[in-house]
Order: sequence, then C-alpha cells, then structure tokens
Amino acid sequence: MNILILGAAGQIGRMATESLLRQTDATLVLYARQATKRLKVADPQRVRLADGDLTDVPTLTKHMQGIDVVYINAAGDKAAKQAIAQAMRAAGVKRVIEASILGIYNEVPGAFGKWNTRMVGANRIREVAEATGVFENEAFDYTILRLTWLYNQAGNTNYQLTQKGEPFVGAQVTRQAVAQLIVDIVTALDGRFSHKSLGVSEPNTNWDKPSFY
Ligand SMILES: NC(=O)c1ccc[n+]([C@@H]2O[C@H](COP(=O)([O-])OP(=O)(O)OC[C@H]3O[C@@H](n4cnc5c(N)ncnc54)[C@H](OP(=O)(O)O)[C@@H]3O)[C@@H](O)[C@H]2O)c1
Repeated sequence: MNILILGAAGQIGRMATESLLRQTDATLVLYARQATKRLKVADPQRVRLADGDLTDVPTLTKHMQGIDVVYINAAGDKAAKQAIAQAMRAAGVKRVIEASILGIYNEVPGAFGKWNTRMVGANRIREVAEATGVFENEAFDYTILRLTWLYNQAGNTNYQLTQKGEPFVGAQVTRQAVAQLIVDIVTALDGRFSHKSLGVSEPNTNWDKPSFY
C-alpha cells in the first residue's frame, strides 16, 4: 500500500509516519513545505520526501501517482482542500483520511460545547466545516477525523469514536492515539471506516474542558 501524508512535518504527521513504518509494510510519501530540510528518511526503501505546499496542484498531482491513500494533516484551509481534491481527481485517487475538528456539525453538547465554541471561535469552526465539506461527498472514499483537543503522552493510544449524528463525547485525546487510529484505518480490510465522519476522543474524558486547561 502506498500512502501520501500531506503536512507530514506536523506533529501527528511525524507520529503517524513512525507508527505506519513500525506497524505496517506500507510505503510512504512525506509531503511538506521543505520536507527535504525538515524530515529524515528512516527507511529509504519505504519512504520518499516531497517538497510542496498544499495549494500546489501540479506538485500534489505528481506525488499522487500510484498512491492508494492520502492522509491530510491540516484541518482548516478550504483552498488547500480544494487543491488536494483537484489533484486527487487528476491522479485517480479516491481514498482520503482527513484531520478536522470537533463542532463542525454543532454536535458538541453542554458546557464543553460552549467552551469549545468560545475557544475556537464560531467563524473558525464554520471555516473548517466548509473545508471538510470538500471531501464529504460521493466523489471520495473519505474518513473525516473530528479531533477533540490534542495533547501528547507517549504510550497513550486510547481512543473512542462517535459517528456522525451522535453527540460528541470527550474533551481530549493524544496525538499518539490519532496516529494509531490512522494505522487502524489504513489496515482495516472491511470498509468500516469508509464514508465516515468520526468524532475522536479519549475514553473517560467527558468533561467541561480538557484537563490541561
Ligand atoms: N490543537 C488541537 O487541539 C487540535 C484539535 C483538533 C484538530 N486540530 C488540527 O489537527 C491537525 C493536525 O494536528 P497537529 O498537531 O499535527 O498540527 P500541526 O503540527 O500544526 O501540523 C499541521 C501541518 O500542516 C501543515 N500545513 C498547513 N497548511 C499547509 C500548506 N498550505 N502547505 C503545506 N503544509 C501545510 C503545516 O505545515 P508547516 O509545518 O510548514 O507550517 C503543519 O506541519 C491540525 O490541522 C490542527 O489544526 C488541532
């Protein structure tokens, strides 16, 4: 399986790279601004670096040749999502996993929902919702990850999922858990993650705000 990670120099991008190399036999293209300066190739047989911006359709299209799955590690930029979608269509790639944020369907109830809207801002939530909508349609085999508030904790890969239409639960989740979820999605053979928009959080964190606030 050939996986293209867009925004690969970001925190989850780096963790997902490491988890995918360790747990699968996939080959990876790590796409980022100045990837060749910022990223190291752990295994040259399986990893290739690609310098580029997420809005650069020709460069994106070039690096999508032969790709089975695209993971987009950037939530909020509609122009970038449209460019990626255009490149995917040109290269004939349908499978996409996309980082997004909680709240884009107004699905976060109670005090945590209010806190989240105040912290993120209604305009920003609307902007990310529009960007996410670029892929949430029949043209793509999408998995949207509505990530709750992120933190880092080595070894903590616990996550729980809610489906679209269900109330969002959980105020925090580790980036390590999101990396593990990406591995679980690309290795699932039964299609259970296809055409899904998933709320992603850590079990037993259904609080009014994350523990680190
Ligand atoms: N913080 C939270 O609690 C939270 C919650 C939910 C979702 N999220 C979102 O989840 C995503 C992944 O999280 P993370 O911690 O891995 O974020 P991160 O470290 O900020 O990684 C995002 C990456 O996207 C890249 N990127 C953005 N626009 C780009 C463009 N036009 N061209 C090329 N690369 C571009 C950035 O590149 P550069 O490094 O070159 O700037 C960055 O490396 C982020 O989009 C974040 O906003 C965050």
